[in-house]
Amino acid sequence: MSEAEENFNVSLRPKALDECIGQKNVREKLQIAIAAAKQRSEPLEHMLFYGPPGLGKTTLANVVANEMGARIRCSSGPALVKAGDVMGMLSNINTGDVLFIDEIHRLSTPVEEFLYPAMEDFRVDYTVDSGLHAKTINFPLKRFTMIGATTRAGLLSAPLRSRFGMLYHMDFYTTGELTEILSRSAHLLKLICEEGTLELIAARSRGTPRIANRLLKRVRDYAQVKGTGVLSTKIVDSALKMEQIDALGLDELDRSVLKALANVYDGGPAGIEAIAATLGEERDTLEDVVEPYLLQIGFLRRTKRGREITTKACEHLGLRPCKVPNNTQADQPELFDELPASEL
Ligand SMILES: Nc1ncnc2c1ncn2[C@@H]1O[C@H](COP(=O)(O)OP(=O)(O)OP(=O)(O)O)[C@@H](O)[C@H]1O
Ligand SMILES: [Mg+2]
Repeated sequence: MSEAEENFNVSLRPKALDECIGQKNVREKLQIAIAAAKQRSEPLEHMLFYGPPGLGKTTLANVVANEMGARIRCSSGPALVKAGDVMGMLSNINTGDVLFIDEIHRLSTPVEEFLYPAMEDFRVDYTVDSGLHAKTINFPLKRFTMIGATTRAGLLSAPLRSRFGMLYHMDFYTTGELTEILSRSAHLLKLICEEGTLELIAARSRGTPRIANRLLKRVRDYAQVKGTGVLSTKIVDSALKMEQIDALGLDELDRSVLKALANVYDGGPAGIEAIAATLGEERDTLEDVVEPYLLQIGFLRRTKRGREITTKACEHLGLRPCKVPNNTQADQPELFDELPASEL
């Protein structure tokens, strides 16, 4: 994500729990935990947010710190390489501060193990020097709240996961919720939108606020250059078409995964590594970004032997699943016949 995009995201981030839209379940639980901790004048327990990218994990971590009136320090799994990196953060932490670690599944094992006593007993054993002169210093810490975020809770080691008192799963947003988020964003950006235009964008945002806000920005640019700046149905439609976002919000990458499955792997099952290799994409990108939504809308099936495309997906893409008896196969060499390209 570019810096400009990140700044744009930050400016649209809600600050208080009441301003957050959707994730009702998570919000209710957080409200109670925050109220209870405040009543007892205690820091919150450690918490973990997990779910696909762009659903608001970072946003919620900031909201929690805000609601607790706490300072937040942010880092991420790949940035914390050595115990010393964590020590630097932990040593000047105050009681109640929030330590936010994004992509926590990417912490190295030594750092993870270094964090165990910090999270559990609020102390660390820090080794200075090495070899003969090595000394282990037991360092007491203030009570802090660790908030971890990950797109892959499954990759977290069991000991680390069990040290989080609260685990929150983030779900995709409904079109209605995304429309609300978009009207808030449109208001902040002082955009004039015709009735129903924000719904159009919301419906094509793959249940994800970050995508919704990004599309809004693209549409705003388009409206400014090609129109009068006002968002109309026509402008939104053309802008989204230019972005190659189809009626269900699928983009080029989503479609290429499905097409590879259909055309190269005869509908599957195919391993995720194989699909990634065919497309020249990272396996992680496919697993984190592409797959969750395709699974959610029932376009992809995950089986023990790999990923399979569903009939629903074939219909949407205009690929006809035509499992034909062997004797007629000569006429139809492909399992999937491509129909005329479906309109975007
Ligand atoms: N509940 C919400 N209400 C309004 N806007 C939201 C909400 N949740 C997220 N957003 C918007 O979505 C954008 C993305 O959210 P955020 O950066 O918190 O996602 P994330 O889950 O941390 O993603 P990643 O896993 O990629 O780091 C933010 O800019 C914010 O404006
Ligand atoms: Mg984030």
